[in-house]
Amino acid sequence: MSLLAREPGMAEKMAAWGAEWLPAEPLSRHTSLGVGGPADMVRLRDLRRLPELIADLRCRGVNWRLLGGGTNLLVADEGLNVVVLHLVREPDGLKFDGPRVEVPTAANLGTTVMECAKRYLGGMEGLIGVPGTVGGALTMNAGAYGTQIGDVVRAVSVLRGSSGGVEVLRMEDVRFQYRHSSFAADDILLSVSLELPERPYAEILEKIKQCNQKRRASQPINEKSAGCIFKNPPGHSTGKMIDELGLKGTRVGGAVVSERHGNFIVNRQGATASDIFKLMDLIRDRVRGAYGVELEEEVIVWRD
Ligand code: EPU
Repeated sequence: MSLLAREPGMAEKMAAWGAEWLPAEPLSRHTSLGVGGPADMVRLRDLRRLPELIADLRCRGVNWRLLGGGTNLLVADEGLNVVVLHLVREPDGLKFDGPRVEVPTAANLGTTVMECAKRYLGGMEGLIGVPGTVGGALTMNAGAYGTQIGDVVRAVSVLRGSSGGVEVLRMEDVRFQYRHSSFAADDILLSVSLELPERPYAEILEKIKQCNQKRRASQPINEKSAGCIFKNPPGHSTGKMIDELGLKGTRVGGAVVSERHGNFIVNRQGATASDIFKLMDLIRDRVRGAYGVELEEEVIVWRD
């Protein structure tokens, strides 16, 4: 029986909150890698209901995780014994005020970069091809081509999973590092205020074009992946090490080390999460043996 089906009165509450409950939803449908077993998913449109929903799950001792765009996520084949919360994009969009813009975290990152460009706001061009939501990008401090989203953040509105209260965190309250932010694991980021430099539209577009070209030339953007699978250890490029070891094209089941970029694992012909974990272990062992470096996952792994 699904986790929520076991909880008395839960179905009625979900209906009252206008939340959609998908029992045993295959998470492979919600990840760019296309792998991942089942979990109970709750899809919520009215975010004003979120504090009640979180408080209710907390009272019941039901663990939950928040799903963003699923583009940097590796979910185990066995699935998860937690509720996966999926917040449906808010329709009200971006609010501009001079060089500042308030962005709902459920907004698509690429769309946000383009909408800002149309208002002559640059500073995020490098993030153009990074898939996923603004919330996911903030959590990971996503970065590419010299841009990190944390650099342009002024404030973040957060629903604290621990207390159910909403707080506005100023830039000074949040630490952004390489592919890391200081938000708590149960924080739900609601919206972010960005401050961006004003630039001519043509200049922003040119930079976007260049970043797109570089990405297309060096990354397997048309295949199922979760972006770079490992972080770059200080002073090393993981993709380069994997390439130098001749590991490109190495396959476990349907999981293959991309021939285009060594730090991408792509899902060809129905890979499972287990194939990907095995391939990651193989890469870790080879890199450790040859370079004495321990690789750390860049992709977020969900397993019980
Ligand atoms: N390289 C190789 N072979 C490869 C891959 C790379 O020799 O198969 C070499 C390149 O020629 C270059 C160096 O390694 O000299 C660095 O490669 P690249 O410019 O592709 O950058 P990266 O360090 O591999 C990082 C981010 C990417 C981001 C790019 C562009 C990490 C783990 N990766 O990759 O982010 O798009 O820079 O700025 O920090 C991601 O976060 O998922 C991601 C893909």
